[in-house]
Amino acid sequence: MTEREAGRVVMIAGGAQGIGYGVARRFASEGARLMLLDIDHQALQKAVAELSGEGVEVAGHRVDITDRPAVHAAVADTLDRWARIDALIASAGVVEIRPLLDITDASWRRIIDVNLTGTFILVQEAARAMARAGTGAIVVIASTNAFFVEAETAHYSATKGGLIAFVRAAALDLAPHGIRINAINPGQIRTRLSAVLTEDPAAGPAYLKRIPLGRWGEPSDIAAAASFLISDDASYLTGEAMTVDGGVTLGVALQVEQGELPGLSSDR
Ligand SMILES: NC(=O)c1ccc[n+]([C@@H]2O[C@H](COP(=O)([O-])OP(=O)(O)OC[C@H]3O[C@@H](n4cnc5c(N)ncnc54)[C@H](O)[C@@H]3O)[C@@H](O)[C@H]2O)c1
Repeated sequence: MTEREAGRVVMIAGGAQGIGYGVARRFASEGARLMLLDIDHQALQKAVAELSGEGVEVAGHRVDITDRPAVHAAVADTLDRWARIDALIASAGVVEIRPLLDITDASWRRIIDVNLTGTFILVQEAARAMARAGTGAIVVIASTNAFFVEAETAHYSATKGGLIAFVRAAALDLAPHGIRINAINPGQIRTRLSAVLTEDPAAGPAYLKRIPLGRWGEPSDIAAAASFLISDDASYLTGEAMTVDGGVTLGVALQVEQGELPGLSSDR
């Protein structure tokens, strides 16, 4: 948000930690009023205390995003406090690394429930409030796993691919209400969710070598993209998925000696 956008009311699900908290910090620095939703009560209290200690207008709700009445109540409380919701960032999500042959029905359902159904509930509840105002912007945190998958993430990847289709379809339904919705596909961003890779002494450095921009992503990288997507600078942008991954999904860097490839001689 720019100066002119200060004072906007932004609801951030999964706002207590990781990418969601990074987004909260960014919007706080831009003068937004924040409603944080998170299932982790302790982390939520800490995040709210930190931000309000810095003079940010912030409140929090301990909410499981799969619990519609709880999400509805959080939206109602936001409207009671500030009379509007300008933006929603849907960042709450869970991952599990498990080979396809070992995924249980319970873990499949849990990942689908949080990542897909929970995001649907959040978007629908916030969008109903936004529709009454005739304006709003939504950002869904999907993943590069939507199209650039990793082994042992069939359930997680299915939800992220589903979110991209959801965002595109939702954009059509929400446009007549003046609401834009876009997705961000983060690559490897340093949070507790990705620590299994980024902190791994062998896999971490090996993966890092494959990131063209040469570093892990930070929550602030995703926050910058979210800030743009909810700003008026993105007022003609909806149904899009922005990949923020340091270039890792662009392709494979060929590790070969310089020279002519067979069949490409210059005197042809
Ligand atoms: N970190 C990465 O590298 C990365 C990469 C691609 C996508 N993502 C996506 O970004 C989003 C945020 O991930 P992160 O890395 O910040 O993880 P994180 O675990 O640090 O933060 C996620 C937050 O969501 C909350 N949460 C989880 N389930 C919830 C529920 N049912 N209801 C309410 N809150 C819930 C957690 O308590 C936590 O505070 C996720 O959707 C994740 O899939 C992360």
